[in-house]
Amino acid sequence: MQTGIKPIRVWDLPTRLFHWSLVASFATAFLTAESEKLRDVHVIAGYTLAGLIVFRLLWGFVGGAHSRFADFLPTPRKVIGYLKSLINGEPQHYVGHNPAGALAIFALLGLGFTSAASGWAVYEDMGGQFMEGLHEVASNGMMAVVVIHIAGVIVSSWLHRENLVLAMITGWKKLRNENPAG
Ligand code: HEM
Repeated sequence: MQTGIKPIRVWDLPTRLFHWSLVASFATAFLTAESEKLRDVHVIAGYTLAGLIVFRLLWGFVGGAHSRFADFLPTPRKVIGYLKSLINGEPQHYVGHNPAGALAIFALLGLGFTSAASGWAVYEDMGGQFMEGLHEVASNGMMAVVVIHIAGVIVSSWLHRENLVLAMITGWKKLRNENPAG
């Protein structure tokens, strides 16, 4: 191994399982949204997504160090500091989620929960047109944030010369000799 590079465990197994199951359930729900024939599949994917988000909200308090919300709360000071560092061409490096990525993560959890809850209400014939509108806005909003999230992962991997997708699969990152911001 190269000197000055230290392997570090970042994502615990439940966080990784949560992530890829969330991707699968969101993709399934999104792709089956318009089909009457696949309505049951859509509903099951939605319930799965809701269950995963509830699990993640709990795991944010008791999970591994970098999976805890306290590790990546995107306070305005942290987000502004991170954005400034990007503009200055010296991006701050975070071992866990960076503050901009963390904003997208909280948006995904919030929109995912809203989408699943409003979808359940529509399925149970509650809330009428308002609930149908909310379900559509939350789901499409989630898709938009997913696109931003994936773009952010690609840009951040390039800026820091690290493979973030591989880290979300294996749980490990290689840390160079440096003092990360968080
Ligand atoms: C194939 C497409 C995707 C890839 C490659 C991907 C990759 C990643 C990576 C690398 C991270 C860690 C970011 C970091 O290091 O800070 C992450 C986190 C996250 N991603 Fe994705 N993602 C994808 C799709 C999605 C989708 C579709 C959703 C939501 C439906 C999603 C929700 C999340 C969430 C909530 C986290 C935070 C994980 C946690 O702390 O529990 N991702 N993603």
